[in-house]
Amino acid sequence: MSGRELDLWIRYGYNGAMLRRIDRIADKFDPAEHIVVHQGDCLDLLRTIPTETIQLIATSPPYNIGKEYETRLKLETYLEQQATVIRECVRTLLPTGSVCWQVGNYVDRGAIIPLDTVLYPIFTDLGLKMRNRIIWHFEHGLHCSRRFSGRYETVIWFTKSDDYRFSLDSVRVPQKYPGKKYFKGPKAGQYSSNPLGKNPGDMWAIPNVKSNHVEKTEHPCQFPVELIERLVLSMTSKDDWVLDPFLGTGTTVIAAIRHDRRGAGAETVPRYVQLARERIQQEMEGTLRTRPMDRPVYDPLEAGNSLTVAPWEKKENPSQMALFESTARYRGKTPR
Ligand SMILES: C[S@@+](CC[C@H](N)C(=O)[O-])C[C@H]1O[C@@H](n2cnc3c(N)ncnc32)[C@H](O)[C@@H]1O
Repeated sequence: MSGRELDLWIRYGYNGAMLRRIDRIADKFDPAEHIVVHQGDCLDLLRTIPTETIQLIATSPPYNIGKEYETRLKLETYLEQQATVIRECVRTLLPTGSVCWQVGNYVDRGAIIPLDTVLYPIFTDLGLKMRNRIIWHFEHGLHCSRRFSGRYETVIWFTKSDDYRFSLDSVRVPQKYPGKKYFKGPKAGQYSSNPLGKNPGDMWAIPNVKSNHVEKTEHPCQFPVELIERLVLSMTSKDDWVLDPFLGTGTTVIAAIRHDRRGAGAETVPRYVQLARERIQQEMEGTLRTRPMDRPVYDPLEAGNSLTVAPWEKKENPSQMALFESTARYRGKTPR
């Protein structure tokens, strides 16, 4: 038995007096399973899931922008289809559960419509409450010439009730000034920051999965595993179900099983289903390469990357180059 297999037995296996293996990927939903990848329409999967079963639904639906896996629809038709899926999702959600819908812009002849703004009423009409509109910021994408290039998308987070599961301590990040102390009052001299770290806030800088990203497959728009890990860790507990109705390459299920949750999803394109199964299998075997959650965003200046110096700027305009330098290099002086 490999170390990873042993780990799976230990993590999932002890059930009364009996050990059982759970590293199989089922293709139909059953509450007794741990991993489900359904090839087909998400509504077919959703309708087999009992009411109030799922703790977290995290997904990135098609944006209706004509990607290879979608037919571009009139916006109203697209929203009606989304509403049908969202209604089913809400039915399957536990009262303590959360829905995180990750979206960008719909673009109509150069005019953008942020999809979260038009999806918002669908969720609230179903009685859900919005807890955050998380800005997911990244640095790579299309270069626009008639508007500023899009460098963020959003994750809209809704809960089914006020009694929702949320573990902030599971996702705290390092403090900016961990050595800071109270300077007056009864706690003067004591450290003022939480030793577990700070709240990550609602602006998340996480690299998107473009060609150089370690997780990149042939799918045109994967989201990174680390983005979903933060949702899984903060909104679910061990053994809870995490569902992605638009599974793509299996990212959500990977993030779920990495943290000992159960994962289920649907995907219509057979090639993506195959990729999802392969990646999930690799995750179970401990061989899937992903970008770690705690790795800082690559800084080419800090890394000494020679490409950061524009040959045509080298001598002529040193003050312009200074704008790219990290503030630490100004040694306390504010650049003007
Ligand atoms: C934005 S991508 C999701 C990518 C995914 N987050 C990942 O990390 O790989 C949306 C996916 O939904 C799939 N899809 C579109 N309509 C679907 C439907 N009705 N049921 C299930 N999957 C669908 C598409 O084929 C596409 O792979």
